[in-house]
Amino acid sequence: MRPLVARIDLDALRHNYQLAVRCAPQSRAVAVIKADAYGHGALACAKALSAHAQAFAVASLEEALVLRRGGIDTPIVLLEGIFSVDELALVDAQRLWMAVHSRWQLDALLAFTPEMPIPVWLKVDSGMHRLGFAPAEIDAVWRALSAASQVGELHLMSHFATADATDNGYYAHQLGVVRKLARRLDAPLSLANSPATLAHPDAHGAFNRPGIMLYGSDPLEQASAASRALEPVMTLRAEIIALRDIEPGEPVGYGGRFRAARRSRIAVVAAGYGDGYDRHAADGTPVLVNGRRATLAGKVSMDMLTVDVSDISEARIGSEVVLWGRAENGAVLSIDEVARHCDTISYTLLTGVLPRVPRCYHELTHHERAHHDPTPTHHGERHQG
Ligand SMILES: Cc1ncc(COP(=O)(O)O)c(C=O)c1O
Repeated sequence: MRPLVARIDLDALRHNYQLAVRCAPQSRAVAVIKADAYGHGALACAKALSAHAQAFAVASLEEALVLRRGGIDTPIVLLEGIFSVDELALVDAQRLWMAVHSRWQLDALLAFTPEMPIPVWLKVDSGMHRLGFAPAEIDAVWRALSAASQVGELHLMSHFATADATDNGYYAHQLGVVRKLARRLDAPLSLANSPATLAHPDAHGAFNRPGIMLYGSDPLEQASAASRALEPVMTLRAEIIALRDIEPGEPVGYGGRFRAARRSRIAVVAAGYGDGYDRHAADGTPVLVNGRRATLAGKVSMDMLTVDVSDISEARIGSEVVLWGRAENGAVLSIDEVARHCDTISYTLLTGVLPRVPRCYHELTHHERAHHDPTPTHHGERHQG
């Protein structure tokens, strides 16, 4: 088998979820597992969290159906509501909760007769200018939804554009817009994404919506004590498949972007952009070889990438290469650091891992949990994909 897997540490996922709960003890934490749980496998992650999470959030009915068909009966919120009127029948039949962000969704809901009242999250555009009713429209829409027999529990939701930033001026503006409405309507709120869950207690509401933090990426521009306690969930692990020594001045890979400044040992690794590793990764992007830091040397190819291992004398064919996550010796390479070298964010790297990379799930068995030693374990592994 080609030596490339995305190892998913379900204990780390639960640890990060519990951290979101501890940061906001008065709120319920909706685990955001849209986009196949940010590339980690939505059903496996939902099952791992099902004894803990009070609700899940996804982007579409299709994503919700994957969970329901997999046996998840926890509440599921559709963050963008329905995309067409005929979806309402399944929202009702599958007991989903839905955002209402637009007039046509409101009209469709009020013209529908569900078996059971549908819990609704009314979305206000407090300044992100993506989805939601304008603040001036909210009073009337809230009143219409409150009076409708189709509607169950009603919440007011909004999304922050800059909750991760150290300059919190615009964040404070958005929060002010929502707070004014909430006071008038006495509305329960759902506002906080991961950065607000970690860093802005004033945004904590009835429900928070942590996403990226569940997967161990630090969403804050400036890390905090809480964000530093996050644990990586995905480890993208490959191996060295070839080694060669090159002379000073010799190029490596397409376009010869990397040129050796000294006599160098180059390792070829079984991972490329055809697996989702970002082709924008610059020379110098860190990787872990046998748990020691080395750097990318040369443009990423479709199925391979090249690493300068001149300073890692024990590098051999078959040596472990961690592209992000935790190495077998316990060393961690943060996906946020890798993302910076690719001029992107952890979200795109995680959601970009392609289906040809098998996801391999591991968690502590009951016995191991009882005698927990924090070194990584390989027991209880399952493959998917
Ligand atoms: C409406 C909404 N809520 C919550 C989240 C979770 O955000 P994060 O992953 O930054 O925690 C997202 C993600 O894009 C979202 O669109």
